[in-house]
Parts: sequence; structure tokens; C-alpha cells
Amino acid sequence: MSNSIKLAILGLGTVGTGVINLINDNLDELKRRSGRDIIITEVGTRRQRDDIDPDIMQNSDLMAIAASDNVDIVIEVIGGTTLAKDVIMHAIKNGKHVVTANKALLAEHGNEIFAFAEANNVHVAYEAAVAGGIPIIKVMREALAANKINWLAGIINGTGNFIMTEMRDKGRPFADVLSEAQELGYAEADPTFDVEGIDAAHKLALLASIAFGIPLQFDKVYCEGITGITLQDVNYAEELGYRIKHLGFAVRRDSGGSNGDDAGIELRVHPTLIPQDALLANVNGVKNAVLVNSHPLGQTLYCGDGAGAGATASAVMADVMDLVRVLGSKDNDDQSNSNQNNHGHHVPHLAFIPEQLSDTPILRAEQMITGYYLRVHAFDNPGVLADITRILSDAGINIDAILQKPAHKLGQVPVIILTLPVVESQMNLAIEKIEKLNTITDKVVRIRLDELA
Ligand code: HSE
Repeated sequence: MSNSIKLAILGLGTVGTGVINLINDNLDELKRRSGRDIIITEVGTRRQRDDIDPDIMQNSDLMAIAASDNVDIVIEVIGGTTLAKDVIMHAIKNGKHVVTANKALLAEHGNEIFAFAEANNVHVAYEAAVAGGIPIIKVMREALAANKINWLAGIINGTGNFIMTEMRDKGRPFADVLSEAQELGYAEADPTFDVEGIDAAHKLALLASIAFGIPLQFDKVYCEGITGITLQDVNYAEELGYRIKHLGFAVRRDSGGSNGDDAGIELRVHPTLIPQDALLANVNGVKNAVLVNSHPLGQTLYCGDGAGAGATASAVMADVMDLVRVLGSKDNDDQSNSNQNNHGHHVPHLAFIPEQLSDTPILRAEQMITGYYLRVHAFDNPGVLADITRILSDAGINIDAILQKPAHKLGQVPVIILTLPVVESQMNLAIEKIEKLNTITDKVVRIRLDELA
């Protein structure tokens, strides 16, 4: 076997440990597929670990590892957006290829990082940053390269999907399921990122850039998490034939429609009612799934474990294998120095040639179009329902279904209304008017409903 590819792993948490285990388990497969020995030469860890092979150098100085002559590929799995950024930029400056699972870093600083990598003739690979073990980055960047993407919708946070599934199927309390997700290594270091939708928004920003050839614009992703979802709403939705999933949507709206809607791209992450028989409605537990609608291919679905050591390590090592090929064979190395890589086959970081990225606007929340689930609490008086439906009809909002439960002891009735798609600004006005009715007892609960998925 030809000379070795030398890896450094920065961070020995769930993912770093998963990568070491994967290499130990599948070394023969990796060698047979790449034609090279793949060895870990250095690991970055704050404290010395006695469970690490003594041939691997342990170092707490990550900047030194990023510049080490004994490293070809730097795997960054420390997370965060400060030290991780410094280390990655240093590795790039020193001519190292980088593999990272860090969606927060790329969503927020990816434009700068990718440009710096291009300028230094190295690659930053990030399959593990989106949807865990599902090879969605490779699919979007390579397999769908001939298609125009119309929209994509996905369950892209494993922790959130795990929580929603356990709440619905077993009636378990939110906090209890979140603790289990943390124990299983699914959750982010700060689980607020999972439950408030921030992690999904990071991933959606990456997917949307690849899908539409736009720069990364995490700050323009509309983001809602799952913390406000109650079992009551989960059950009402089920009663009406829908399921609540936490989804990310990236939707191209090419031209203004009859609703007076605007052209641009919708980037939104939020709990969503989808029909119970929709494909995504049946993706449960820690599974992620991304549904892509493209022309001329049509609809394709990609599904698998979205978090956890094995799934993420699988994606990290797929990137390493790609980079091993970029680094070339031993013969190439002998004929030239290590900067003469096989870059001819390199796909641009965001799939489109950087100079060709488009300035298509990202739509504001008020411009977005979805259906709605509304839960309105009203006194059990004659004419209340008529008042609510009149406000909706005056706003041009079409009611698709309505469910009124019997008044409980306080004489209040929960009224559940499902609407057809409407521009959000219209719905905001209607809700404002409903909340002003003196027969309404609480704020209106609203959850988006989308039949796309
Ligand atoms: N916390 C993330 C999730 C890990 O639950 O999906 C994978 O990105």
C-alpha cells in the first residue's frame, strides 16, 4: 500500500470519538477504497487521554496541529464559532484540507471561509454539517447538479424530531426526552440550538445556498423552535388528519402570484402541520429526511440518522475519502509537491462557481405563504364563531377545516381552524382583529401548515 494520509482530529467529543471508532472498525474498507493507508497522527484535546493509541500525538495546542507537517487533513469537530474559526483559517493558510461538522460556523462565516479556502487552493468539506449521516451535501452538489431546484423541505434536527416523536407516541414530557437526547449524543452542546430551531436554521442556510446558488445568509432564515408546541395541539392536529413536524423549507418563488406574493426565496424553519400520510410525517425518532423537488428529476427523498456518533462519523469519513482522492496517489506525490493536488475534479464549495452566485432576495416573514392551524379560545356565546370566520373571510382567507370542542367548565370553547395558504401579512392582520374581539379569552395560537412536504 502506498504512503499514508495523515489525519488530525480536533475535539474528542461524541463525533471525534466516533471517527476514531469508525477508522478502527473499517480500516480495511477505507484502504481498499482509497488505495492509501489512512492514519490518525495527532488529536487535539484539552486533557491527556489514556484511551488513545500511544502512537497518536495528543496536543492541546490546536493551532500547532493545524500547521503541523505531520498532518494532511484537519478534521474540526470542536464546534463553536470562535476558536474553531481561527483553527480552520490557520489550517487553510498552512495548505491543509479541512473536514468539519460545524454548521454554525459555516452558516455564519462560510462565505469568508470558503473564499479563503479557494484562494489557498484547499477544500473545506462539510457533509457532516447537515443531516448527520445522510449524504445530502454530496447529492445536492453533485448528483442533482443538472437540475433546477424548485424547493426542498426537511426534518434537519434529530433532537427535535426525537422529542416530537416521543411526545406524540408516548406522551412523555419535553424536558425528560431532551435529557435522553443529550445522553444519546444527539443534542448540541447548547441544546437551545436544537429546540429553538437555530441548528436547523444553520443547516437550512447551507442547503439553500447549494440549492439556489446564493451566498450563505443565515441571518435571513425565519426561525421558530418546538418549545411552544403543546400536547394539546399535537392531538388536535392528529384528530384533523395532520402531524406536527419541525421542518426547514427553502422555496423558490419565481414570480408574483395571484395573492400579490413576491418573487424571491423563502427560508423558514418552524413547526408545521403536514398530512399524516405525507412522507415526512412518517420519519420518526432521530431520523432526518430531506425532500427535494427539482426539474426535470421531480421529487426525491433522502432519509437516515440525523445525529449521533456513528452517523456523523460516517459523513466525516466520506469527506476524508473524497479528499484522499484530491490529494492524489503516492505516484502523484512523488512527481510533485503536495500542493499539486487533483483539483480538476473539485466541485465548488457551494456547488455554483463563486462568481456566479445570485443576488435573488430572501423574502421577509410577512411575504411568506403557508396555510395555518389556529387555536382560538372564546366564550361560549352565540355568534362567536361567525365573528371569527367573518374576519377571516374579509381578509380573503379560505378556511379548510374547523373543529369546535364542547365548552369546558369555564364556559370557554377551543376552536381549531385550518386555513389554505395565505400571505403572512394578511394572517397577521386577521389575528390582530380576532384578538380584539371581546369574546376571545386568550392569544391565538398559530402553527404553520404546509402541503408541500
Ligand atoms: N444536534 C444536532 C441534531 C446534531 O440533533 O440534529 C446533528 O447535527
